[in-house]
Amino acid sequence: MEVLLAGGAGYIGSHTAVELLNAGHNVIIVDNYSNSSPEVVRRIQKISRRSIISYEADVRSKTDMMGIMEAHAIDSVIHFAGLKAVGESVKNPLEYYRNNIDTTLNLLECMKDCGVHNIVFSSSATVYGEENPYPYKETMPRGNCSNPYGWTKSMIEQIFEDAVKADPELSVVLLRYFNPIGAHPSGHMGEDPQGIPNNLMPYVAQVAVGRRDHLIVFGNDYPTPDGTCRRDYIHVVDLADGHVKAVEYAAQHKGAEVFNLGTGTPYSVLEIVEAFERSNSVPVKYEFGSRRDGDLAEFWANADKAREVLNWRASRSLDEMCRDTWNWQKSNPNGYNN
Ligand code: NAD
Ligand code: UD1
Repeated sequence: MEVLLAGGAGYIGSHTAVELLNAGHNVIIVDNYSNSSPEVVRRIQKISRRSIISYEADVRSKTDMMGIMEAHAIDSVIHFAGLKAVGESVKNPLEYYRNNIDTTLNLLECMKDCGVHNIVFSSSATVYGEENPYPYKETMPRGNCSNPYGWTKSMIEQIFEDAVKADPELSVVLLRYFNPIGAHPSGHMGEDPQGIPNNLMPYVAQVAVGRRDHLIVFGNDYPTPDGTCRRDYIHVVDLADGHVKAVEYAAQHKGAEVFNLGTGTPYSVLEIVEAFERSNSVPVKYEFGSRRDGDLAEFWANADKAREVLNWRASRSLDEMCRDTWNWQKSNPNGYNN
């Protein structure tokens, strides 16, 4: 298949590109590099030993996206292009709604005009909101999100569901990611956050490599076994494999289908720190701080549907997630800017 990856130079898109190439598909990347760099495309080619086509373009541009879709016989689109920093979305909500929703509408309109019927979307476990009991199951209703980033995902899911009702040709797979961490085992690709990391694992890795002095654990008084929050961390290569299955599924089906991509097992912040220290033999200094606004005590996935329908399950262990993160971080201490 010819798969167009919108936002394909980002953390999850780049790992998905490699797994799609490994599975025998062709990929075309479109990215404006607002949160990535052209170096990522070189790394994808190095790892896969394949040459790929990439475009520097804004997915919101109708002219650019029509030109790209008309130039290639695209079978399916995977839509990763979005802004994803929760705190920033609270400060700049309009920028988040504009970028995340416009990219989606533009892709759907261009797909319709060019006769492309299949799309996979990067949604998030955040759409379950605060009300649903865990483990989260796809049959639960979307809940109230605590921030504009989360609402963009929830609204985009609704847009896709409405689009499918109006167009019987359309096939949509909504993937609700839990907490992707880790890096490609080659050490050539990984997560490269700009500035101070918002998420746990890149922060831990930067403390270990000496870029930050210590981690602040946000709260140790939660009603969890060790008092720190628990999440469902999933290796990014497992997540990427899930996209290969999802895009193949989308090509065979019509309508909209939702899948959780998680492991089904939660780990606490302290368990992550301990696993990182143990598997890499490096110390990670931390201190306890206050709770972060909007954090839930714990949640994780019911991962049955993806196993039953897509024949996919996450197989990489927490130690592999920690080892691959460290391998990437220590060989690229400044990310892709080496
Ligand atoms: P990322 O920031 O690394 O990748 C997103 C890519 O999209 C970047 O390369 C960025 O430059 C590009 N982009 C953004 N807006 C664009 C536009 N208008 N035109 C062209 N390119 C654009 O993020 P990621 O971690 O790879 O996440 C990919 C998707 O998955 C995002 O939609 C994100 O919200 C979603 N998601 C991520 C996580 C996570 O923990 N990483 C969890 C749940 C959902
Ligand atoms: C966060 C977002 C979520 C988004 C996801 C993408 C919030 C409230 N939620 O999820 O919408 O889809 O990222 O990956 O931001 N932690 C620390 N110290 C740190 C960083 C994190 O203790 O410096 C803790 C957090 O309190 C949390 C856990 O580590 O309990 C994981 O945090 P993070 O990686 O930011 O993911 P989420 O909060 O689950």
